[in-house]
Amino acid sequence: MAQECIAIEGGHPLNGTVRISGAKNATVALIPAVVLANSPVEIYGVPEISDVEALSTLLRELNCDVERVGDTLKVDPTHIKNIPLVSKAVDKLRASYYFMGGLLGRYREVTIKMPGGCYLGPRPIDLHLKGFKALGADITYNEKDETYTLKAEHLHGAEIYLDFASVGATINIMLAAVMAEGRTTIENAAKEPEIIDVANLLTKMGAKLRGVGTDTIIIDGVKEMHGTSHEIIPDRIEAGTFLIIAAAVGRKVLIQNVISQHLDALLSKLRELGVRFEIIGDSILVWGDYYDFKPVEVTTQPYPGFATDLQQPLTTLLTLAHGRSKVTDTIYTERFKHCAQLNKMGANIEVGDGCCYVNGPTKLHGTRVEATDLRCGAALVVAGLMAEGITEITNVYHIDRGYDNIDRKLTALGAQISRYQVED
Ligand code: EPU
Repeated sequence: MAQECIAIEGGHPLNGTVRISGAKNATVALIPAVVLANSPVEIYGVPEISDVEALSTLLRELNCDVERVGDTLKVDPTHIKNIPLVSKAVDKLRASYYFMGGLLGRYREVTIKMPGGCYLGPRPIDLHLKGFKALGADITYNEKDETYTLKAEHLHGAEIYLDFASVGATINIMLAAVMAEGRTTIENAAKEPEIIDVANLLTKMGAKLRGVGTDTIIIDGVKEMHGTSHEIIPDRIEAGTFLIIAAAVGRKVLIQNVISQHLDALLSKLRELGVRFEIIGDSILVWGDYYDFKPVEVTTQPYPGFATDLQQPLTTLLTLAHGRSKVTDTIYTERFKHCAQLNKMGANIEVGDGCCYVNGPTKLHGTRVEATDLRCGAALVVAGLMAEGITEITNVYHIDRGYDNIDRKLTALGAQISRYQVED
């Protein structure tokens, strides 16, 4: 069967300015959060990614009006109907599970299929369900249809301790609790910037939340939530990916619309490697003409630790370092599928138990490789830009789920990129 690939002719140095879009992992929670409102919500800075299309489809299935004008998404939930979400759009992304929390919060009842998303090893949702149960929901799972039904006579506040500071569980429990009766406390809550962004929207919609961004979130339930407008924070993972690209193949690249504090862990690793950059207000200027990179050890952690979503693209950069680097992923111990693809291109990476060792420096050469998941795709884009010859990346849909116009942004910096059909 034919499928689209991204073809990159490597070896062209990049120069110029790139603007970072709104954060994917905030956007995919902000959109389902809108079901809690009784009047229109406008969201600004919405990235052009296929995850937004899938979530918009789900909102339309719920009888919401959805209109996109430029990077603004206008959602009118006035005539919303709480119908089961079982269509193909649910399978397209993990974040469809935020409709669980949102619809349970508003209607005390929701039926939804198991979510899709990147395979990064097992991704259970037990912590989400534990939270919903504590709030008073009865949960049934229909194995035949792979659907969950959650029902609560009374949704009431509860004290919930998360065994792991899960991003998804923290957001989903917030969504379910903002309209529950009484006070909910989430202990060991995740602290990612995207969670704060979602809480900011909820607060503008009338919710009462305190402590978001710390280990303990306190939510006092309200009876009603209303429309508002909200601007999404910049995508720290897209920004991190462009920082890595600029370090690998940039001459002088200015990355705009960045909250540099969100990237502290990456920036400190880049400094250790020997990358030259300067933070100028909400931009970062990178000089990528220095190749005497030193090997580093990186371990992913929940925020503010090193983001798991950036370890894959960073691995590609580490092929330039003189010596042996080690990358450990404590969040997704199986998130190393990119290594085999990079090795096809000439890298020398050994995959261990929850980690990989990158032996450098190695020269990469173009060949056909497969984006096995979104950030593997990003790692391969970095590799394609570095490699000699042409790299064809298949399963492009993974990349399009999370990177806004990546071809256009890279082309504007001087990269040689095209898309065409290839046979499997
Ligand atoms: N976990 C459980 N039980 C749960 C929930 C999570 O055991 O009920 C485990 C997971 O299996 C994993 C760890 O906890 O080992 C972290 O999972 P978390 O819930 O924090 O991740 P997530 O909400 O599923 C979000 C992002 C991911 C990002 C992670 C970690 C979205 C839609 N996804 O996933 O982003 O890697 O947080 O920061 O926000 C990506 O953008 O490429 C991506 C995968």
